[in-house]
Amino acid sequence: MSERKTILVTGGAGYVGSHAVAELRSRGHDVVVIDNLSQGHRAAVPAEVELVVADLRDRAALDSIFARHRVDAVMHFAARSLVGESMRQPDLYLGENVEAARTLINATVAAGVRKLVASSTANLFGTPDRTPIDEETPIDPGSPYGESKYIMERMLVWAERCHGLRSACLRYFNAAGAHVDGHLGEDHDPETHLIPLVLDAAAGRRSHIEIFGADYPTPDGTCIRDYVHVTDLADAHIRVLDVLDTRSVRYNLGTGKGYSVREVIAAAERVTGRTVPVRMGARRGGDPAVLVASSARIETELGWRPRFQDLETIIATAWAWRARNPTGYGETTASTGQEAN
Ligand code: UFG
Repeated sequence: MSERKTILVTGGAGYVGSHAVAELRSRGHDVVVIDNLSQGHRAAVPAEVELVVADLRDRAALDSIFARHRVDAVMHFAARSLVGESMRQPDLYLGENVEAARTLINATVAAGVRKLVASSTANLFGTPDRTPIDEETPIDPGSPYGESKYIMERMLVWAERCHGLRSACLRYFNAAGAHVDGHLGEDHDPETHLIPLVLDAAAGRRSHIEIFGADYPTPDGTCIRDYVHVTDLADAHIRVLDVLDTRSVRYNLGTGKGYSVREVIAAAERVTGRTVPVRMGARRGGDPAVLVASSARIETELGWRPRFQDLETIIATAWAWRARNPTGYGETTASTGQEAN
């Protein structure tokens, strides 16, 4: 994107959203963030960026932002994003995530903004019977979380047909890593993701990592995932902005290479030079054995290729962030409302 734009970033204080804010600013764009700080961190938003602390279901807060800024495009990251939590509390996802997306889409249309880039997920595909997973893979969400993202994608189809709002839905596989300069990273409370937990075990902040099942039909029995660097995800969001001048798009985002849980642990041991104590545990409900992306479509159409191709390099960025920020952003987050991814 050549000219300077103003982008409204929802969930810009969260993990993927904050990296998108950094990428947008490094390319000279202006950014406004809306985040309810339920999972996001004030410290993840640069002081020069306006942060509106509000929930996306607060239509008046959105209208006020659109009234004060000439927004060229919206990037929507704010959502609850835990598969397991969604299986226990489906209404949080089918209620809050859907209502937040609906309110945002309505406010965006009302403001006359014509471009929206949305975070979607590999969970849209449930437990697919083929791999790698391309955009032709049948959609059959694996959880209320995935369903909430699918409903969002469908709302966006109709927002285009009825109101001319073009959208890009980017289906992330496993977001991982941290900003290369070490000032932004992954800090969830509670943390449930594999790589930060493995690194905490390596650092001695946790006694061990539990492997959730070693009886999957994979070479070493543990689940295989496609770990894609968070800055590469941010880059894809910016690349699609120009495409939205002419059409809407749906892309799967991963590296195309899968690693098992055991391989992630071994890679973390090499990166950190430490031993990661492991305990074997039972399967976690809702985990498919293998999720690996085909990102051939976005590569062919937009030339997007992950710059971080290698798992050890991805883990090294996460390790550098944890070394520099042992307690993450070091603040207490609010316990209600919506999470930012
Ligand atoms: N795992 C463990 N032990 C742990 C944590 C995780 O063995 O303590 C395993 C999981 O069972 C899984 C793998 O590590 O096989 C990765 O688990 P994560 O929790 O890190 O990530 P998920 O694959 O469950 O989910 C992530 C995002 C979702 C998204 C999904 C898409 O959190 O939002 O990727 O692939 F939908």
